[in-house]
Amino acid sequence: MTDETTKPMRVAAMADLHVREDNGTSYRDLFAEISKEADVLVLAGDLTDLGKPKEAELLAQDIKACSIPIIGVLGNHDYECGCAEEVMHILRGAGMKVLDGQSVEIDGVGFVGVKGFAGGFGRRMLGSFGEPAMKQFVSETMNEALRLENAMRQVRSKRSVVILHYAPVVDTIESEPLEIYPFLGSSRLAETIDRFQVSAIVHGHAHRGRFEGRTPGGQPVYNVAHHIEKPTGKPYAILEI
Ligand SMILES: [Fe+2]
Ligand SMILES: [Fe+2]
Repeated sequence: MTDETTKPMRVAAMADLHVREDNGTSYRDLFAEISKEADVLVLAGDLTDLGKPKEAELLAQDIKACSIPIIGVLGNHDYECGCAEEVMHILRGAGMKVLDGQSVEIDGVGFVGVKGFAGGFGRRMLGSFGEPAMKQFVSETMNEALRLENAMRQVRSKRSVVILHYAPVVDTIESEPLEIYPFLGSSRLAETIDRFQVSAIVHGHAHRGRFEGRTPGGQPVYNVAHHIEKPTGKPYAILEI
């Protein structure tokens, strides 16, 4: 049961690791450090650079250095090679809970995860009109929002964290070029989230955005992409949930 005296859960969150075969970057030490700093680690997509199974295997090795639960979603880069299922399988094999329209509860906190999709924001978001390709694009966004809603309905805990790859609001993508805003996320995700009460929403994808923002309903949104400046001064944020 969650009550006023419940000790906050320390959730470390980061995104856009972009693990590659050739650059020798290891997250082993960082994950070991995070294991001491937090209760749970959230990874908000673009875990690999090209979605290659070999990249996922490298990350899987590093995941084993993490002694706290890891929960996350895939990003667009993890789909590039057409091996997203295999990437998920490898990461799950290493113990990571990869969410794709599901929820999981850990110590009284519900985690909901879906990748999300693009489509733009507010009154300027792309509508389902015109060519079939355009309608297909919009239906992909709507489908992700629907899968998010279904997953959110499963959550029974009072405290919850929504994990997305794409941004649900513009606040946290500021500093990115205006021309690419519609490809960085969609308000349809925020509209869905605001039908529920959540403790925090995290996303990545916008490498040059801003750390903190709010949904139109006032719920906190954090862009935890690797290079975003965070209050910790580290590649990961710590959220007290
Ligand atoms: Fe990325
Ligand atoms: Fe991305």
